[in-house]
Amino acid sequence: MGEFELLARDGLARIGRFSTPHGPIETPALLPVVHPDLARQPVHPKELRSRFGLGAVITSSYIIWRTPPLREIAEEKGVHGLIDFDGPVMTDSGAFQQHAYGHVEVTHEQILHFQGRIGTDIATVLDIFVEPDAPREDAARGVAETTARATKARADRAGLLAVPVQGGLDPELRRESAAAASMTGDVLAVGGVVPLMERYRFADLARVLIAARPGLAPEGVVHLFGTGHPMTFAFASLFGVDLFDSSAYLKFARRGTLMFPEGSISIDSIQERVCRCMLCAEVPLTEVAGLPGSERERRIAEHNLLVCSEEMGRVRQAIRDGTLWELAERRSTGHPALAAGLRAAIRGTRIFLPTEPESRRTLRSTVATTGLRPSVIRFLARLDGFKQGRGPYRTLPFVPLTTVALRTLPAQTRDGATLDWEVLRPVGAVPIELADVYPAGCYLAPDEFDARPRAGGFGEALEGLAVDRERDWSPEWTRRQVDALIAWRYGPAAATALRAANLLGRRSPKTGRLRRVERDGVILFHVGTDGLVRPTWRGAQLLHATLPSPASRVVVDADAVPFVREGRSLFSRFVIGGDLTLVPGASALLVDKDDTLLAVGRLLLAPGEMGRLKRGVAVRVIGHERGEEAEEPDEDVAADPGAL
Ligand code: GUN
Ligand code: ZN
Repeated sequence: MGEFELLARDGLARIGRFSTPHGPIETPALLPVVHPDLARQPVHPKELRSRFGLGAVITSSYIIWRTPPLREIAEEKGVHGLIDFDGPVMTDSGAFQQHAYGHVEVTHEQILHFQGRIGTDIATVLDIFVEPDAPREDAARGVAETTARATKARADRAGLLAVPVQGGLDPELRRESAAAASMTGDVLAVGGVVPLMERYRFADLARVLIAARPGLAPEGVVHLFGTGHPMTFAFASLFGVDLFDSSAYLKFARRGTLMFPEGSISIDSIQERVCRCMLCAEVPLTEVAGLPGSERERRIAEHNLLVCSEEMGRVRQAIRDGTLWELAERRSTGHPALAAGLRAAIRGTRIFLPTEPESRRTLRSTVATTGLRPSVIRFLARLDGFKQGRGPYRTLPFVPLTTVALRTLPAQTRDGATLDWEVLRPVGAVPIELADVYPAGCYLAPDEFDARPRAGGFGEALEGLAVDRERDWSPEWTRRQVDALIAWRYGPAAATALRAANLLGRRSPKTGRLRRVERDGVILFHVGTDGLVRPTWRGAQLLHATLPSPASRVVVDADAVPFVREGRSLFSRFVIGGDLTLVPGASALLVDKDDTLLAVGRLLLAPGEMGRLKRGVAVRVIGHERGEEAEEPDEDVAADPGAL
């Protein structure tokens, strides 16, 4: 089986390293389609890497097979020799040609062996291309045949294998096909979607990806066949697509169409300098339009490649920054069909929840559906449980509260004595103790920037609101907030137990925000800018004594115990169990199989992924018997209107 190492993530999207015989592929990656006849390939594969930063390619083993001169060279020099490229090469199998022409004159065994003979890095099973709107029986037959072929292929091939996932629009078949592919494939290649892409049926594409997700093994590398338009990269990445392939840069170039992340434009309509990429700076598009056929086509193809590569870079950066939803939302404004796709994604919230990170820097409102992102849905679901444990919250009288009203009004009405009010945030009604917690506390919405309301605006409706979060730092309020934050993260029983422990909250003298929780001068928890409590080693000891196993635990294999005790990261393959409700970014107690506490760390993987990914870190250790990482800098960065 292939090896995939996850290095950074935003939800399902993964910055990772997929090892192949010709070097690693850094995901998410765009594999440009290369014509195996270099005379018909306007950009040389080596230039794809050197000029466009695209280090892995895909080509068609079927075209090579059915073209005797190409086949001879490939059989003699290998596919890398044929296309003069020494990086990772994936080959496709001819299923798409079968679909387009109705037949291919090769069997699935023949084309698999052929891919092996020409030394491909990733061979693809010859699948049955199932049309999106195929009748169910046909779709079921296509899936069954694809699965049977994949099983045979796995037995025959030692190297990396891409197994297509088919099933049309039938969710049950898609899930089944994904689960079957996960048993045999290193690359799980979602197929049969080109007709969806061509007709901008992004809502259906979302449904396909949502249906397949529960069947896709976390250790598998997910490929999406035929997604070559940069406007779709952020959208598909959101669903955990690791590999994209594109022949679109070429096909569009033949038609004189320029790609942009916001959509496509015909070069003949360009009259202004709309692009100043390094290519268009050399020869402006208005001049490219008038060049002779092949030169014009090559230049457009290069522009398209550059735009694709750059957008993939933005997606990767967004994954590292935790802003991929934002990027996908911004792209969704480029075309109503993409907006429909994003709405379909939001209806599939459940597939995102297991890997939805505990927090991010900010939650910036960009489109109407921002408030329905998985992070908000999870927050609201947890809120129901939280409120049940904590005695009645009076509901605010109806008032059109905005963030601005929230910020300005408590100061006018802080004479009341009760604390049990809710505060309306753009994400909904939130108990005031949780007003700093992600995503409520880090929510940045347009009303933050609206003009301030005139004095006396909503004051009456809010009379009795007791806490001015910016000024009331009374011990009573601080105790209540500490208690609430522990209940929020560890449940009401833990909060009750720790109430007797004499915890003392400390605020930032500058901002008044709760920054840490101490006992007898020892720091037990830091409170992050996301408003969440995170235990130090000493806090972990207290939690360990308070929370019954397996709560908040990750169980470490005996072989790794000495390393984890010393503060070394816990590798995925040494995880043998744990609390399945933990999510990436959460703090966890690392214990041995007898529940002896070894260290406290932060999750990179979701529990369902641990042990299954054979390479890489599952939990980064941040505190142990003999050492502790420094706390976050003491500054208020919850609202960050200046950053891009
Ligand atoms: N290229 C575009 N779509 C497909 C597909 O469904 N299967 C294969 N093998 N290749 C494709
Ligand atoms: Zn350009």
